[in-house]
Amino acid sequence: MVHLYEVSLFILNFLRLVSKCSTKVQVASSDNMSQIPRIRSPLARAVYNRIVEDQCQRDDDHHYWYSFNTELLPDYLRQKFIQFDQDKETSDFLENCYEKADWVFTQIGHSITKSILGWFMTPTSINGLLSRGSMFIFSDDQIRMLLGVEDGWKGDNLLDLGAGDGMVTQKMAKYFRRTYATEMSPTMVWRLQRKVTSKILDVNSWNNGNLTYDLIGCLNLLDRCNKPISILHSMRQVLTPGVGRVIVAVVLPFKPYVEQDSKDHIPKEAILLKGHTFEEQTVSLIEDVFKPAMFEVERFTRLPYLCEGDLHHSFYVLSDALFVLKPR
Ligand SMILES: C[S@@+](CC[C@H](N)C(=O)[O-])C[C@H]1O[C@@H](n2cnc3c(N)ncnc32)[C@H](O)[C@@H]1O
Repeated sequence: MVHLYEVSLFILNFLRLVSKCSTKVQVASSDNMSQIPRIRSPLARAVYNRIVEDQCQRDDDHHYWYSFNTELLPDYLRQKFIQFDQDKETSDFLENCYEKADWVFTQIGHSITKSILGWFMTPTSINGLLSRGSMFIFSDDQIRMLLGVEDGWKGDNLLDLGAGDGMVTQKMAKYFRRTYATEMSPTMVWRLQRKVTSKILDVNSWNNGNLTYDLIGCLNLLDRCNKPISILHSMRQVLTPGVGRVIVAVVLPFKPYVEQDSKDHIPKEAILLKGHTFEEQTVSLIEDVFKPAMFEVERFTRLPYLCEGDLHHSFYVLSDALFVLKPR
């Protein structure tokens, strides 16, 4: 085992050295692409390409992940937009991704297991089983700004719907006395329970009890569930009167895909958004989806939805529109 570790470390350091030299050569003569080393092994080539990509990512502040043209917003929404940037906690998550991607043998093991389990398990459940693919949406500072609360503030009940492995739930849970969650995938429930002290509620009856919630998380769920409109209406019914808020994250451009609970992966309830750009679809979500569900926007932003990567890329990124909603 120690042997394997040492061999992988040696190979990685060697590839890193080669990548550093070749990056310098490319900068010196950018049109002389023949200077890029020819690596025959597909595995070594994948690792080499990833190391080169990581070097570029480390030098990038990724301002475009956060960019939003507020000029395109109607007046009543403009001052509700919060501009964020890549803060230390986000950079730390990325650094952790670069490190994990370096565990070459673990990554190979994951790839093999994934291709076998893929025959009878959903990608979400495989990730849950392998404890891989953790997500990052907001830092501690960012969630506090979105919720408009100070450090040390505590609410009563938090409910996170479609909580996944609990990585994001954890960020919100520290601001609440009690945490509740729902999750469709059994392996994700298992991971969630190990990470967050929360009570898991049934996916079909979470809105039937006597509990009300100060905050309901609906993060990256509306495009992954069968009945997003029903979920929006149900959330409204179980918010604590006066104080209750909903935090919704939606990946744009909007491309719904239901993993479980739908044979053709098409949701039973359709959300149809107007426009193609991030800004157009954000406004359409507010006006054509949240407003009819009797919600108004308190604050909103654009953030990267980051996911731990694999052998080929240290991380993957999608664009999230995030909204804090209050009942109208
Ligand atoms: C894209 S993941 C989002 C996970 C986490 N909220 C995040 O933002 O990283 C969507 C999750 O919702 C779960 N899910 C799908 N439909 C659901 C439903 N009706 N009720 C609860 N969870 C559901 C899936 O199993 C999956 O883990």
